[in-house]
Amino acid sequence: MANMIEISEEASCGAGWRDEFRTKLDRCGFVIIEPGDANDVKFDELMSELGDPVVYGFGTKLSLEPQEGSDNLQFTTRGMPLHADSTFNAGPAVKYIGMQCVRAPEVGGETLIASAAAFFANAPADLIDTMQNIVVEYRNRIDGYYKDRSVGDHPRVDPIQVDPESGEKRIVMGFTDPDDPMRTHDAMVVGYSAEESAKLLRRIEAMLHLPSVLYAHKWRVGEIVILDNTRVLHGRGAFPNQARKLIRLSVG
Ligand SMILES: [Fe+2]
Repeated sequence: MANMIEISEEASCGAGWRDEFRTKLDRCGFVIIEPGDANDVKFDELMSELGDPVVYGFGTKLSLEPQEGSDNLQFTTRGMPLHADSTFNAGPAVKYIGMQCVRAPEVGGETLIASAAAFFANAPADLIDTMQNIVVEYRNRIDGYYKDRSVGDHPRVDPIQVDPESGEKRIVMGFTDPDDPMRTHDAMVVGYSAEESAKLLRRIEAMLHLPSVLYAHKWRVGEIVILDNTRVLHGRGAFPNQARKLIRLSVG
């Protein structure tokens, strides 16, 4: 499937989800398990079917909600640019990211999901070519939370990689909110001027936001979404002045 509009319809699981969610996860890169259906399963048990919990400095389960005065973008009501998890810190590899909604905002706060397959089917060939010939350096200024790389260790990452398991091309990138003081995923194309780099990253990011590539998931309480971190990028819409709480559990 090459269009996110079709992919997102397919990713939604109905009553028979228990039998089909893994097939859907493989086909779509993510699945949505609706609240009524999600109620008869324990989130942790479902995730443990997919792998071993990833252990971070804070443990395995993360309560994703705004924290008063936090300078970590993750714990604010701001938007979070698209990114893949586990590439930019020294933590273990993440294969699947599970999230269950405890509190849903009325407006905004969507989880943004961009499909690599849809990107490769819809992005112009010259852009994909360019991406195959660049390396991106990341300087994350958040520390003391994830398993951080040592000071001065700035990962350099090929934005397009071949997944060793599936043989499929994947996108391994993170984008920066220029107004985020901690510059989560501060990205720079190696060998480019700051201006050229910003221009190219903006172009890639815009392609990832095409309706044929990006799906914005509006949460309902109780719902579970599972993302394949090797096949989709994820991010978040802003939700100013509202409450939102997700429980996240990733497995490797
Ligand atoms: Fe993330």
